[in-house]
Amino acid sequence: MIIFKKAEVLNAYLTKKRSEGKNIGFVPTMGALHTGHLTLIETCRRDENLCVCSIFVNPTQFNDPKDFLKYPVTIENDIYLLEKNGADILFLPLKDEIYPNGTNNLAHYELGYLESLLEGKYRPGHFQGVCQVMERLLHIVAPDHLYMGQKDYQQCMVVKRLLQITKSKMIFHTVPTVREPDGLAMSSRNTRLNEDDRKKAVTIYKTLLFLKQNLMPGDLFSLSLQAANMLTAEHFKVDYVAIADADTLEPVEVWNGKQPLVALIAAFLHEVRLIDNMMLV
Ligand code: PAJ
Repeated sequence: MIIFKKAEVLNAYLTKKRSEGKNIGFVPTMGALHTGHLTLIETCRRDENLCVCSIFVNPTQFNDPKDFLKYPVTIENDIYLLEKNGADILFLPLKDEIYPNGTNNLAHYELGYLESLLEGKYRPGHFQGVCQVMERLLHIVAPDHLYMGQKDYQQCMVVKRLLQITKSKMIFHTVPTVREPDGLAMSSRNTRLNEDDRKKAVTIYKTLLFLKQNLMPGDLFSLSLQAANMLTAEHFKVDYVAIADADTLEPVEVWNGKQPLVALIAAFLHEVRLIDNMMLV
């Protein structure tokens, strides 16, 4: 694996590889890699791409500065895991490489209602930050294929919107969520859970399964309420339990039995915020 720190040098290298007929696949991350991330790498490699991974903890997408400061950094282990899992290139930029003119006055993106519901509502500015770093990374790497995880369902929708805004032709791949044996969605934030909270965290997955198993056409209010109660009974502080249209993310209050649905949950255990989602139909 080759590690690049400079955007210009990486861009020149990839331009050469592209001219030699290579397809470029890209997996952007913030490091603290786990099997979820490595599954994106594996999918990228399986598609016969030159597999580029980036690690950059992007300050502009953290609406809570404490969350940014506490974000786990495990770079040596990350490099080991990427080597072992066959990534071809790691892009490991410093902040100035991504934001040469600083982080004030960055571009603003027209994300519509995606920015005012669910994660957009509870993490103001978060998706602007995601678009700011993604536009820059995609400009540097210019991949043919982009691989992102369903774990961050709304982020996938936002980045697809960014590709529309920038008139990009790259192919977006959504990779299914990878879970721990008990069902908890893998996340870099899981390492911040204490032992007791780690055991409780699986309630999010169980609640999603409960929604899937008990879904019936008609009013969904009482089902959502029961789901939220399952979480509060285990002392979660719930941001939202939502049942939404799987294509638009607009909330669905009454289900006609046909519309594709996704359930999404965000909840805190002490100061650790966890998110997860599941397709219901
Ligand atoms: P990060 O949280 O490191 O996640 C990097 C990628 O891994 C994202 O596409 C995410 O959806 C995916 N991922 C995380 N956990 C997963 C799991 N359990 N199963 C499958 N995929 C999983 O998401 C970000 O970083 C950042 O917002 C980023 C896109 C890099 C921009 O800064």
